[in-house]
Amino acid sequence: MTTPNLNPSASLSAIPYGTLPTASAPASRKPISLPRLAELHARGEKITMLTAYDATFAAMADSAGVECLLVGDSLGMVCQGLNSTVGVTLETMCYHTESVSRGLRRVQGTAWLIGDLPFGTYQESREQALRSATALLKAGAHMVKLEGGGWTTEVVRFLVERGIPVCAHLGLTPQTVHALGGYRVQGKGDSAATLRQQALALEQAGAAMLVLEMVPAALATELTQELKHCATIGIGAGNGTAGQVLVMHDMLGVNLGKNPKFVRNFMTDTGSVQAAMQAYVQAVKTGQFPDNTLHAW
Ligand code: KIV
Repeated sequence: MTTPNLNPSASLSAIPYGTLPTASAPASRKPISLPRLAELHARGEKITMLTAYDATFAAMADSAGVECLLVGDSLGMVCQGLNSTVGVTLETMCYHTESVSRGLRRVQGTAWLIGDLPFGTYQESREQALRSATALLKAGAHMVKLEGGGWTTEVVRFLVERGIPVCAHLGLTPQTVHALGGYRVQGKGDSAATLRQQALALEQAGAAMLVLEMVPAALATELTQELKHCATIGIGAGNGTAGQVLVMHDMLGVNLGKNPKFVRNFMTDTGSVQAAMQAYVQAVKTGQFPDNTLHAW
């Protein structure tokens, strides 16, 4: 884990606002790339991911050693006050992706940056998905994420064949919350077989990562072992996945509603944003978070 370095050699005039933490010495940190993520996955080291929506928090998470930052469409709820992610536009996603990317550049950050494709920007056709993904990549994303299985397999293949790394997302897919009937656990009972089939097909299509949201821990662990190259990233999926993600505001204990069961507030025992992020990285890396008895189904 890296420690933030306040970079005393930087002159104040080079730093437009003074509180931005700078990354630890670039020489000690290698940029996170797809091969590096594959390396972590292959040696069984847990991958850490947090959402980020702005430059400052992105820089702080990077300095804390978070390997992947997701500009999630959860920003619709977190930043825009929407009731769901359905109303988030591609323009908004690009705006926040650019902000996060600039924050990372300012501190010579190394995090892998994932941009969420919002609802309605990839469902129409593979070509529409390519145009939307291109916009996110031009805004600074290294990888795009899209929700759903089955019909998305061909979309994933189309993007991957054109050089766009893709993270898939199964289980609770918030963009289809109305069809799912609410924010509830997915993949219980008979639906586990469908979820498994979809996950294997997404890996075959070239997805390098797969977010599993609110899926029973036992199923998520099995899938993690079955998938050979695709790293599972859990959120409410227990501690058997290849990595973990949380919405940053949730793990800092700053949100407008009640935290879901799978969230741990890392501010409680730490007292600063930077320390909370470092504690999250540490807890994920050591397998202390999530705790299956508290945060999983
Ligand atoms: O939009 C988002 O933040 C997400 C994560 C919860 C995985 O998709």
